[in-house]
Amino acid sequence: MEIKPAKRLRGEITVPGDKSISHRCVMFGALAEGTTEITHFLEGADCLSTIGCFREMGIEIEHTPNQIRVHGRGIRGLRAPQNVLDVGNSGTTTRLISGILSGQSFPSVLSGDASLNTRPMKRIMEPLSLMGADIESLKKNDCAPLCINSHLQSGASPVLTGIHYHSKVASAQVKSSVLLAGLYADGMTQVTEPALSRNHTELMLKGFGADISSLVHDDGTATASILPCTRLSAQKIRVPGDISSAAYFIAAALLVPDSELLIQNVGINPTRAGILSICRDMGADITYLNRDDRNGEPTADLLVRTSSLCGATVEGSAIPTLIDEIPMIAVMAAFAKGTTIIKDASELKVKETDRIFTTTEGLKAMGADVTPTDDGMIIHGGRPIHGGCIDSHLDHRIAMAFSVAALAAEGNTTILNSQCVDISYPGFFETMQKLQEKA
Ligand code: S3P
Repeated sequence: MEIKPAKRLRGEITVPGDKSISHRCVMFGALAEGTTEITHFLEGADCLSTIGCFREMGIEIEHTPNQIRVHGRGIRGLRAPQNVLDVGNSGTTTRLISGILSGQSFPSVLSGDASLNTRPMKRIMEPLSLMGADIESLKKNDCAPLCINSHLQSGASPVLTGIHYHSKVASAQVKSSVLLAGLYADGMTQVTEPALSRNHTELMLKGFGADISSLVHDDGTATASILPCTRLSAQKIRVPGDISSAAYFIAAALLVPDSELLIQNVGINPTRAGILSICRDMGADITYLNRDDRNGEPTADLLVRTSSLCGATVEGSAIPTLIDEIPMIAVMAAFAKGTTIIKDASELKVKETDRIFTTTEGLKAMGADVTPTDDGMIIHGGRPIHGGCIDSHLDHRIAMAFSVAALAAEGNTTILNSQCVDISYPGFFETMQKLQEKA
């Protein structure tokens, strides 16, 4: 994809549904009794992988242009898959579904694409094994393909034990995996994490009727607790716009001169909205309009105007609230005055790509002054940023962050393998084009 600098951006957009919430609606809907109706579902490849896995386990899922209808079969209603569960590029599908599969009375194997099959799974294999699950990395490398419950006597249900797990990483995927296995355990299951990660599982499972609670302690650590459950009930869910997708157009409007964009119905759950706080620290002009709240998930329309940005420090407990937005924040920092320090973010190394490497590599190709560190990067902003050739390495967030950089750079930019944006934002380039035509 070839991208030219933009003169200005104007218009109103709605970004696709939240990826994390879309996955969870399908998973919890499958385990509930009744039909869960979902609107503004994200039709990205990752969420389609989740749908594919549950169809393979006997769940009927109707997919119309405006709605997804998941015909749940109850907490014990999944059927043994006849094929390997294909999790594609999706870490969320892999880790959350592993928690659910640990409680099933049938064996299963799940596997993904080349990138997914190199991502660390020990982080879920360890707690799920402590609960009594039988979970094995088929290549003995702590990565997928994973085989779950292969040693079960046919028809027997695994006996999972409730545990209190202290996770080393603040990861919603680890937390959710353990909590979902906890639905099938013999007592309370608790997960304590070093800082609060996104809490969509806790909020949504409560809405489906699970006995789940959470607490942030004085030292910033957080504990979620769940009791075993025999029944979840179907829900109607309107998925908020994904703040991780909105982030690209927030940044584009801030960086491209003379721009004004209204981004409607964006999820601003505080465990996800760290980018908005950083934008404020960097001097961004963002106004919140039409605040609303559905099932505990707050939303707002965001009015964003071109701003002259300054550097900021991004660290500590803020990191889990903006982990997926760091490539975009790093690009903004390259255009900002002063220094931006990003630290405590070594989790970036185990995303779809090593994003410390792919982000700093891309920034250097465009002329930025950036130094990778072991847990983040340091960016001295204000150097002229020019077009270049950016390898997305098939990472959707790298492709989108550098497409935005291209809009504000001098000269043209080529993004290699740009179609990977379909993982989380089908229509991204069309929306980018539309905002320039209207300007
Ligand atoms: C996600 C959690 C995050 C995030 C990922 C989606 C989720 O991962 O990076 O894109 O839906 O739970 P970790 O919780 O492992 O950091």
